[in-house]
Amino acid sequence: MRSMQTVIALAIIILTIFGIADSGYVSYELFNQVIPPCGQGFDCGTVLTSKYAYIGPFSVANSGFVYYLTAFVVSILNFLDVDIKKIFSIQHSKTLKRLQTIDLLLLLTTIGFIFSLYLVFIMGVVIQSWCTYCLFSALTSVVLFSTVQYYHSKYSLHSSFLAKGLTLRIINWLYGVIAKPIFFLFDPELIHNRLISTGSFLGNFSVLKFKVRWLFQFKHPVLTKEIDGLQFSNPVGLSAGFDYNGDLTQILPDVGFGFHTIGTVTFGRYDGNPKPRLGRFPNSKALLVNKGLKSIGARAMIQKLSQLELTIPTGISIGSTNTHYDSDKDQLMDIIKCFRVFEASSLKHAYYELNISCPNTFGGESFTYPDRLEVLLTALDTLKISRSVYVKMPIDQSEKETLLLLKVADKHNVQGLIIGNLTKDRENPAVLPADKAVWKTKKGNVSGKPTFDRSNKIISLAKKNYGTRFTIIGTGGIFTAKDAQAKIDRGADLVQLITGMVFEGPSAIGLINLGLADKLLDKLSK
Ligand SMILES: Cc1cc2nc3c(=O)[nH]c(=O)nc-3n(C[C@H](O)[C@H](O)[C@H](O)COP(=O)(O)O)c2cc1C
Repeated sequence: MRSMQTVIALAIIILTIFGIADSGYVSYELFNQVIPPCGQGFDCGTVLTSKYAYIGPFSVANSGFVYYLTAFVVSILNFLDVDIKKIFSIQHSKTLKRLQTIDLLLLLTTIGFIFSLYLVFIMGVVIQSWCTYCLFSALTSVVLFSTVQYYHSKYSLHSSFLAKGLTLRIINWLYGVIAKPIFFLFDPELIHNRLISTGSFLGNFSVLKFKVRWLFQFKHPVLTKEIDGLQFSNPVGLSAGFDYNGDLTQILPDVGFGFHTIGTVTFGRYDGNPKPRLGRFPNSKALLVNKGLKSIGARAMIQKLSQLELTIPTGISIGSTNTHYDSDKDQLMDIIKCFRVFEASSLKHAYYELNISCPNTFGGESFTYPDRLEVLLTALDTLKISRSVYVKMPIDQSEKETLLLLKVADKHNVQGLIIGNLTKDRENPAVLPADKAVWKTKKGNVSGKPTFDRSNKIISLAKKNYGTRFTIIGTGGIFTAKDAQAKIDRGADLVQLITGMVFEGPSAIGLINLGLADKLLDKLSK
């Protein structure tokens, strides 16, 4: 152990000894039916004889003693670097196989911390009397909890599968029973905007970022990847369309994303299609999207982003401004101008997405014809773009049509494919009949589960025909680690999502990363 680490591990042991001494003394006195001396202004008698001071036949002081004693033993094991799995022979247990000694300490001290808050609340609000020993124990428990958190964040190479897994599952459950039902009562775009402003606000404060990280981020070295010269701390990214104006760059890494696409950004400004332009299909686990490439425009975006530090690979999705063009050439030139201004800027963005497949615009899909894509990519080649370009693929084309597009992409300066965009196929069998009926009456195209199988099929097709020629980013209908794994198994190097996060909440990102890490570690141990 390095010296500072040793000091902190020792401090943890000493704190547990404080707790043992305090709760042990009170337990002993209560056992002898004596109220220990309390000090002026305090009233130990009222607190220690109240009904809140007992859990069944045991006093809270007894349970505190057991808690601190257990924490003491575990902190000694942590100090000695003993693998708890071996002691209890749980290396092969499905749920506990990743348990580390520090995880157990994290879990114990978190429970202790929450219980202490509860006791302080009872003393201050319910009983309205204070007990010196109980306050000392609460203080010990808070300092112990914070020290263990610090120790874990500083010296553990990865998040705790147990503690973080539990935290993420609890948040996920709370999101499902509280936040989502409330959010889903309101207009989706209103909620989207509120979430963007909340995320943007949180990203301004290091303390809040730390809290978000502590709650949501799951990190593990096994998830890291180098792709096209970029370092990814994990393979889960935010897909284009959620952070269309680049407001979330400072918070998404803390939520646990490994990368992030801003946009689609267009050269000209566009305020979006007429409202309502976002809908929900809860039965089909999908969103109905008709925003039409709402964008503040390339120059405004560059100015906004130039003030910000980008700590994870951040890409810019580029599409043509949603307006009428007199000729195909004008539309092509609009895209070229957008690439030019980003290339000329001093931004540290990592890659580009070329959005040829937005189905909600005047001419958004006109480059999904091989001959037109050929013209566009030939023009882009002349720019000698310094970053990777990933083409965002349509998912409603036949295999034959898709292969023709890939053949074109293969000849040009295209490093990867994002597979893929929304489905506009109103016969898509994954859109349930009730949602289909609504869809008939509304404009827009569908994300989420109805895109899952189609995107998977195209990923397999691209992998089978082009091997490692393209980096593949699998997108569409990812809600869980299993969904992400399905895309990775078919050949995706990275994955992206939006709808899964809307339906499952931001804890989905950590849970997906945790599941992927678990699978990878299983694979490595075989
Ligand atoms: C609200 C919303 C807006 C979107 N806007 C864009 C966009 O501007 N550019 C783009 O390339 N894709 C856009 N998409 C498509 C997503 O990037 C993604 O390809 C698609 O939603 C499938 O992923 P998902 O099922 O995880 O949502 C948008 C999707 C949603 C839900």
